[in-house]
Amino acid sequence: MERAVVITGNWKMYKTIEEAVAFVKELAPKVAAAQSQVYLAVPFTTIQPVAEALQGTSIVVGAQNMNDASEGAFTGEVAGGMLKDAGAKFVILGHSERRHIFHESDTFVNRKVKRALADGLQPVLCVGETLQEHEAGQRDEVLTRQLTMSLEGVSAEQLAAMILAYEPVWAIGTNLSATPEQAESAHQFIRDLVAKNWNQETADALIIQYGGSVRPNNAKSLLDKPGIDGLLVGGASLNVDFFAQIVNDSSLRTAK
Ligand code: PGA
Repeated sequence: MERAVVITGNWKMYKTIEEAVAFVKELAPKVAAAQSQVYLAVPFTTIQPVAEALQGTSIVVGAQNMNDASEGAFTGEVAGGMLKDAGAKFVILGHSERRHIFHESDTFVNRKVKRALADGLQPVLCVGETLQEHEAGQRDEVLTRQLTMSLEGVSAEQLAAMILAYEPVWAIGTNLSATPEQAESAHQFIRDLVAKNWNQETADALIIQYGGSVRPNNAKSLLDKPGIDGLLVGGASLNVDFFAQIVNDSSLRTAK
């Protein structure tokens, strides 16, 4: 089955409104001919101006986090409905920086996934093992726990419309990307788990991205693997030329 290729830039806590708008105005013409779908997860303050600047293009704007409640006395938090109101179409959930620095649990991530779906935002759910877990051979155990708990109560139909991102924590921001073979093996494990816990049709339809030190020089070899349907790009998405190159190279990947 032919799945769409989705390349997501995750800007993390970088870029002012002025910088963000200038970036996307430069990016849009550079990737206009690409066959892949381009997503940008931008800081909250830049969602609206970036969405406005990208009107008329096919680049999709989203957020990097949200709260699990629809509204309430939660100082400093942002609700999915507010993100949607600002122009976001998707939201990254369960990123390892949220899990590790801000101690987000699988059950909290699960509530966020359900809220995002209810709010009409597409969740991009991140999973992946730490270096310690990797070295202890616990990848499959960690992925099973994260996926089972974070997706509890999510229907096959809802899951098929989401994006999963395999992001080994040891590869994020380290310049130590997983090899295409390591990533492919994890993606296969995830797809098999989805087939077993939901159904084969959902597993076949599901877009699974790889993330962790993706750069222009390793993007295509990762995407050439049949189970890798896209990339979640952090550091390299802050540079318009690097990001445009990754997007444009992704159109050249070997047909699957
Ligand atoms: P990186 O980040 O590309 O800078 O490793 C990836 C991510 O955190 O999504």
